[in-house]
Amino acid sequence: MDTARLEINDSNIDKAGEIIRRGGLVAFPTETVYGLGADALNGDAVRSVYAAKGRPSDNPMIVHIADIEALTTVADLDCCMNHDVVKAMMREFWPGPITFVMRKRAVVPLTTTGGLDTVGIRMPSSETARRFIRASQRPIAAPSANISGRPSPTTYQDVLEDMDGRIDAVLLGEKCAVGIESTVLDITGDVPTILRPGYVTPEMIAAFTDVEYDPALYGSPVSGDFRPKAPGMKYKHYAPKAQVRIVKHEAYAEILAKEAEEDGKKVQILDYHGDSHAAARDFFARLRELDRKGADLILVIALDDEEFGFSVMNRMLKSAGYDVAD
Ligand code: TXA
Ligand code: MG
Repeated sequence: MDTARLEINDSNIDKAGEIIRRGGLVAFPTETVYGLGADALNGDAVRSVYAAKGRPSDNPMIVHIADIEALTTVADLDCCMNHDVVKAMMREFWPGPITFVMRKRAVVPLTTTGGLDTVGIRMPSSETARRFIRASQRPIAAPSANISGRPSPTTYQDVLEDMDGRIDAVLLGEKCAVGIESTVLDITGDVPTILRPGYVTPEMIAAFTDVEYDPALYGSPVSGDFRPKAPGMKYKHYAPKAQVRIVKHEAYAEILAKEAEEDGKKVQILDYHGDSHAAARDFFARLRELDRKGADLILVIALDDEEFGFSVMNRMLKSAGYDVAD
């Protein structure tokens, strides 16, 4: 199929909305990463998202809304912890990069939630995203707009690299301001649990409620028992063609680089000098760029494992298959 390139203007946003109502697929910018959108209430449309991404169908999709009124049409707040606390968190963090996992309503097909009776809901802060969702008049199911396993796209060019010819349209929007995916917070249990770390950290949530990380986030598939509560967290992720290694000290990275270069390899060191926000904005796009340049080995200098640094390190470790050279 021909993938339409839609510049951002009123008539193209309307066009994108029509494509969604017809059951088609449109990639769109958000503040985190680009999403691959479909009508969340249309099981066939959602199935074609799994097909376009090559994604396992047990991996639930996040449902995106533009206005708080849409929330109770898809999710049942009655299941959850203290309503006042939930509402206060939504007022603070929405629109923005956090997804709340709640009990789903019957209108949301099990195809959208990967067979679960819960649904993750997010109201993105990107103006373009919300204009598009409003124009579609539907809640939008959207995973990141990459081929499954590849780094998430943070520009429309990166979306086209993976999705050209596989989807109906791409909105040619802005570069993503955050650069890694939203925090996923499960509020269906007694203690809210972070299933995927992101921009909104436990330190920020602690102003409202106790919160914990899913213990699996401290482990890895190579450390044995690894059963993350978010189905998507168990899959191989963010892997470029080059080998990626995390290195704790710059001096050691220099040595490793020299050794690999002597073996004839093309090596790149990525050092963000401890700036986790700059790292988040750059990392996925850089992995794609280094693939295009034919890098063999990417050595990433580790960030401090605290607050937002923990979230960015989660992506870096996954892209390295948890290979850390100390
Ligand atoms: O920032 C984001 O969240 C981006 C943009 C497009 O909004 N979307 C995104 O979607 O990252 P995706 O499909 O690539 O990742 C969704 C993650 C997966 O790890 C999935 O398992 C988890 O959220 N998830 C979604 N619904 C869930 C649910 N009901 N219960 C547990 N985990 C859920
Ligand atoms: Mg993804």
